[in-house]
Amino acid sequence: MDLFDAIANRYSYRGPFRDQPIPRADLRRIVQAGLQAPSGCNAQTTRFIIVDDPALVRRIGSMHATNQAVQTAQAFILCLIDRNPDSVYEGYAFQVEDCAAAVENMLLAITALGYASVWIDGWLRVERRSEIIGEMLGVPPEKVIRILLPLGVPAQEWPRREKKPFEERAWFNRYAQQGE
Ligand SMILES: Cc1cc2nc3c(=O)[nH]c(=O)nc-3n(C[C@H](O)[C@H](O)[C@H](O)COP(=O)(O)O)c2cc1C
Repeated sequence: MDLFDAIANRYSYRGPFRDQPIPRADLRRIVQAGLQAPSGCNAQTTRFIIVDDPALVRRIGSMHATNQAVQTAQAFILCLIDRNPDSVYEGYAFQVEDCAAAVENMLLAITALGYASVWIDGWLRVERRSEIIGEMLGVPPEKVIRILLPLGVPAQEWPRREKKPFEERAWFNRYAQQGE
């Protein structure tokens, strides 16, 4: 799939996945796309755990009460950063941005390979879910799971979000109000 088609076709899928395992070669290709992402000062801070053991996948999936993509995922990719990130430039740490860049690369790779996913962040932060999953997977206390991606082949159509038009959010050469 062409890059611009992958960008246009990516969407957050929260419906059920087909009962169709994802080959490790595809999982590796997706995570490799995450590894290729830019990172502040090339610190390459994000760590990745790929969960494809069916028992673990089911345990994590059963933690979500409503999101069918999480409930029926065929695999998960978890992105980890340091709990207390060190600065890499003039007192600034970029681990959250590093992680976000990796996730977007992976979402595009997921789309290009015919799978779907959804960026799960807020849900992980409440009710100690990040810690509970971390304990399940041997994550050391200095690391935190920041983003979880459920993966699979969509079993049904799911609504696509409209994006605001270019003119409402982007301008050449100066900040402008709509209609200027
Ligand atoms: C930083 C961030 C956090 C997000 N957290 C969640 C989440 O916890 N649960 C969820 O279902 N979607 C989450 N999303 C997905 C957004 O809701 C989704 O991208 C947005 O509604 C636009 O829809 P689209 O992805 O289909 O374009 C998150 C997206 C981002 C970028």
